[in-house]
Amino acid sequence: QTRHACLVTGCAGFVGSHLTDSLLAMGYPVVGVDIRPRNEAHNLSGAFGNPLFHYLERDITHHEVLASASALCGDIRYIFHLAAVVMVAFSMEHPELTMATNYTATKALHEEAVQAGAKAFLFAGSAAEYGDDPRLPLKEEYATDATIHNSPYGRSKYLSSSLMQNSGVGCSLRFFNIFGPRQDPSSPYSGVVSKFITQAVDGKDLTIFGDGGQTRDFIYVSDVVQSYLIAAGIVPAPSTGVAAPLSGIYNVGTGNSISVRELADQVVANTGKGSNVLFATPRAGDIYHSRADVSRFNSCTGFQAVVPFAEGLDRTISWM
Ligand code: UD1
Repeated sequence: QTRHACLVTGCAGFVGSHLTDSLLAMGYPVVGVDIRPRNEAHNLSGAFGNPLFHYLERDITHHEVLASASALCGDIRYIFHLAAVVMVAFSMEHPELTMATNYTATKALHEEAVQAGAKAFLFAGSAAEYGDDPRLPLKEEYATDATIHNSPYGRSKYLSSSLMQNSGVGCSLRFFNIFGPRQDPSSPYSGVVSKFITQAVDGKDLTIFGDGGQTRDFIYVSDVVQSYLIAAGIVPAPSTGVAAPLSGIYNVGTGNSISVRELADQVVANTGKGSNVLFATPRAGDIYHSRADVSRFNSCTGFQAVVPFAEGLDRTISWM
């Protein structure tokens, strides 16, 4: 069976590299686009050895990304668009760059995809599109122009998701807090799971911003990859057995949440180096509670996250 080629933008990142590896393992040719030079794309060490993989070092805001990618391996039918400014704090200082990267470039790539008659277009949406809406669990329709957005990041993701919805072509998966191996722990704004694990493994103290009662819906990266494959129509939906690309907006989380305090305690217990858990002032703009209503995606496809939080944590700790 012929496998159509895929484009993965942001392929050298945390989620993009896992998605790339899975597509390659299933025999799909992949053109990976990323702004990182090849020698800094460490997450792709497996992919680079694969003859099905083509790497294109390219800023996503440059023109005709799809045309350039197609020149490398012919007709591209599946587009996974993950390249983005990903840090909320950075977006506050660089609102224009954030909009250009996360919205304008998405619009241009989407237009190219529509013209080329692509089979599936998947956009990486975010729970940040809900701002700090206190209505839990968060339903897709809660995000509106009026309820958003504490950050240019949230706004840019919201506008791009709305483009998927309003054009009738393309799908936005609104991810909650993703964690797992390859998540970069090195920046002050890195995800809390990767930060806590690195600190605990090094025997350093963990710092909770605020009282630790804030909660998040943490989803393990392999579940996220599976949600992509189902939404693209590469893998059949568990409930129907039919593989078909989705359109519209879908939350992707577990539907459960845990507190940052519980997270810190579990990380310290599982790494066994006796780190202290300290408390500092809350982070500006922090959301207190966040949890996905996962019923829309679940009722359309039967998708459910399957990796228990504790197991995801163990796998991430082993990887460090
Ligand atoms: C996350 C995403 C962000 C997305 C948002 C949607 C990451 C890195 N960020 O932000 O892209 O827009 O969800 O809602 O995944 N914390 C500590 N100590 C630390 C680090 C963090 O207590 O050393 C706390 C934070 O104050 C926060 C919680 O842990 O309350 C989660 O922080 P973080 O992992 O940065 O994610 P979000 O802020 O939820």
